Amino acid sequence: MDGATDLAFGVLFLAVGVIAYFVFASFAFGAGYQPTPRRSVEAMLRLAEVGPRDTLYDLGAGTGAIVFRAARVYRARVVGVEVEPIRIAILRLRRSGSPFADRITLRWGNFFDLDFRAATVVTAFLWPGAMARLRPKLEAELPPGARVVSHCHPIVGWTPQVYDPETDVYLYRRPGPAEVTSGGR
Ligand SMILES: C[S@@+](CC[C@H](N)C(=O)[O-])C[C@H]1O[C@@H](n2cnc3c(N)ncnc32)[C@H](O)[C@@H]1O
Repeated sequence: MDGATDLAFGVLFLAVGVIAYFVFASFAFGAGYQPTPRRSVEAMLRLAEVGPRDTLYDLGAGTGAIVFRAARVYRARVVGVEVEPIRIAILRLRRSGSPFADRITLRWGNFFDLDFRAATVVTAFLWPGAMARLRPKLEAELPPGARVVSHCHPIVGWTPQVYDPETDVYLYRRPGPAEVTSGGR
């Protein structure tokens, strides 16, 4: 192999390593990276009837597929929590250019360390194991009437109010009257 081939292999190796890190490193915390498809984002926000009076927590905010749409189109207050540092940097960059920045709070960290009591809506696209670990926390901390919408994986032991097979979205509602109603868009 000559020097140019060595360099090409080195660059390829590095690129594969960076992509693998970006997609898979956060698996240990609850999920790798895959943006929620646009149709599913729309279904999640619509089924949960997200509106200006909501505070939506996106658990594992990725690069913001849910965060920015919920703030821009549905006018919710949004808290995006993300553990992976490159993605939180991308989220902060996107927020700095957003006219709805004042509605968006970003937290770099593990959502299992966060208090969910202020959330009226929770969105998640996570690994089944993370959904199972989240369940007791959601039961203990979410206010009555709060909605939980999950893409791809159900919360085992809860009965969904709605399941949309087209977009693979589950809607759950915590028992009891809602303290905050969304009031529509
Ligand atoms: C499948 S992606 C979903 C991204 C985003 N919600 C979206 O709709 O595009 C899951 C994200 O959750 C993040 N994540 C996984 N476990 C986490 C944890 N315990 N705390 C914070 N973020 C976590 C990952 O880094 C990844 O960005």
